[in-house]
Amino acid sequence: MPDIATDRWTRPNLLGLEGLEADELLALLDAADTFFPYATGEGDPPQTLAGRTLLNLILEDSTRTRTSFALAAERLGGRVVQFHATTSSMDQKGETLIDTVRTIEAMGLDAIVIRHKQRGAPHRVAEAVRCSVLNAGDDAHEHPTQALLDMLAIRRHLGRLDGLTVAICGDVRHSRVARSNAYGLAALGSRAIFVGPEPFLDGLDDLSVPVETATDFDAVLPECDAVMMLRVQFERHKGLAFDQDAYVRGYQLTAARLARAKDGAPVLHPGPVNRGLELADEVADGPQSLILHQVTCGVAVRMAALTLCIAAAERTNS
Ligand code: CP
Repeated sequence: MPDIATDRWTRPNLLGLEGLEADELLALLDAADTFFPYATGEGDPPQTLAGRTLLNLILEDSTRTRTSFALAAERLGGRVVQFHATTSSMDQKGETLIDTVRTIEAMGLDAIVIRHKQRGAPHRVAEAVRCSVLNAGDDAHEHPTQALLDMLAIRRHLGRLDGLTVAICGDVRHSRVARSNAYGLAALGSRAIFVGPEPFLDGLDDLSVPVETATDFDAVLPECDAVMMLRVQFERHKGLAFDQDAYVRGYQLTAARLARAKDGAPVLHPGPVNRGLELADEVADGPQSLILHQVTCGVAVRMAALTLCIAAAERTNS
């Protein structure tokens, strides 16, 4: 049985990376490294969630996050309840989010994983329940387990997370992934540079850490140890003018453009990828792409986050 140092993490909830100390981030990342050998279903994982029940309350579309939270919990011996929004009393009969989570918690829950279109919804749920709450993405605010899996993938590839320069390029304005990475990378001593056309760099006043921004991707790349591309989130644009051809010319990561970055710089993307828009196929499927490795890291990170948060909640509630 691998040693999971649950006492290095004291929070019952994981709502965001804003305000987390480096030691807390490292506790999660080190635990994720310990779980990594079990992330693809191999081996005999420690049953840290035996007897525990998780509600997967995914109220926006998701493939990776929904699936990997469920696999993480089940492989550690937990039970997963999938919430079916479209046939629920919340969607069909007007039950509130808070009444919904308190009702299901009354049947016995150890954790709620929530993705919601409203910023702060996970925080409101956390105030209403005693079990752990993990944010799986709230509007364009935070997606903490995504940033943790990004950082785990970078650390496993480059061997460190301090002193790095990471370009985070694309639709930053609408990206909870960019915000959570900005907090995490800053806390661990690395530099994030947000890159994109001006309209994609607006609306960042809510960030509580300073971030650099740049519109010239080609000029930034020679400084970069890693390059994180973001999905253009058309569904959040609400009429924002967007010139796709100009975007491809200035920001699509092609092999030729990637060659400007430091030698062998890894390429990340949270998925899903708009192939041929922010990322050329030759890069998405190329030797420097960590995209599928990120997905595997996601299971390990969610194993760690569930184990540590539930253990902390049990200590708090005992
Ligand atoms: N990266 C991410 O959150 O993917 P999904 O929307 O598929 O969960």
